[in-house]
Amino acid sequence: MKITLVGYMGCGKSTIGQELATQFGFPFFDLDVEIEKKYGKTISELFSQLGEIKFRKIEKEALEAIFDRSNDFVLAVGGGTPAYYQNMQALLENSLPIYLRLNPVELSQRLAQEKQKRPLIAHLNDEDLVEFIAKHLFERRQFYEQAPIIVDVKSKSVKELVEEIKNLLPLP
Ligand code: S3P
Repeated sequence: MKITLVGYMGCGKSTIGQELATQFGFPFFDLDVEIEKKYGKTISELFSQLGEIKFRKIEKEALEAIFDRSNDFVLAVGGGTPAYYQNMQALLENSLPIYLRLNPVELSQRLAQEKQKRPLIAHLNDEDLVEFIAKHLFERRQFYEQAPIIVDVKSKSVKELVEEIKNLLPLP
């Protein structure tokens, strides 16, 4: 089974994905990490050296490469991945996408501490962050909400979220 986690930056895709993969004995992939390994550069470096348009192209290629090479896995994609090219369609055709949903206030609180490594928000001050996220999420939720499984992240521990997801999956 191929499980993909989608959702805005900071919603917990990597943490929850890793735990889910451990429990199923599946490999875990993080699309950003795969891109960083392939190009030997951080996501911030790729954004500043190539620009966002080129980044979206290599992101799409990295997604296709993962679908080509693996059987069972849990994959955390980038917050923007579902919103470019036909990526959401590809996620739906090749995997079971799960949307980890969190509101802009919670997201901005989480991201305030770790925005430096995220080029789209690194320049924003804390007051502007929540407004930026609200607008951005409004544009992206039409993609995230195509996921057949939607899980509300707010006020739940990683353990609780993993249990909730496991109960929603069509596994024996
Ligand atoms: C992005 C999200 C990031 C990373 C890049 C762009 C986005 O991934 O791919 O900084 O457009 O939302 P995370 O969601 O893992 O932070």
